[in-house]
Amino acid sequence: MSAPDPNTTTASAPSTDVAPETAEADVTTGLNALLANATVFYQKVRHYHWNVTGPHFFTLHEEFEALYTFWNDAIDEIAEQVRSRGDRPVHTLADVLDLASLEEDPSTPAAEEMVEVVIADLAALDEQVQQLAERAEEADDADGAATVLEDLSEQIEEDRWMLRAWLNDL
Ligand SMILES: [Fe+2]
Repeated sequence: MSAPDPNTTTASAPSTDVAPETAEADVTTGLNALLANATVFYQKVRHYHWNVTGPHFFTLHEEFEALYTFWNDAIDEIAEQVRSRGDRPVHTLADVLDLASLEEDPSTPAAEEMVEVVIADLAALDEQVQQLAERAEEADDADGAATVLEDLSEQIEEDRWMLRAWLNDL
């Protein structure tokens, strides 16, 4: 007859349950990362609007204004998507820079180079928006983030196309 093992424990196995809200939280985190990139982009385009020079001044000064005006509204919509999920939109510039993958431009490039930078940033934003739209569709997208993101992607693609046409890069 063996003595009972004093080391026997009833420790439970680690839970493998995935919280149902995980996918939704993932979308919220992604929306804040997008908000950070959109904020960096917005400020960069304002900088280009203010500081562009040369024979394309009138065209680009106006085009950059149209672009940052669009992103001003887009930023607001993205932030409201974060709020509607019960989270806080990233709002301090320090946190924005921490979270963003896009980089600020402390330099003042020549006009054509500004357009090249804007096109590259729009490509990065579009990829981020599309990946997030897919995740939103997979999650319980009760707040309609996927629709907001798909509309955003459509506008980004149109702007990319027009800027590439201006650069003669089609
Ligand atoms: Fe202005």
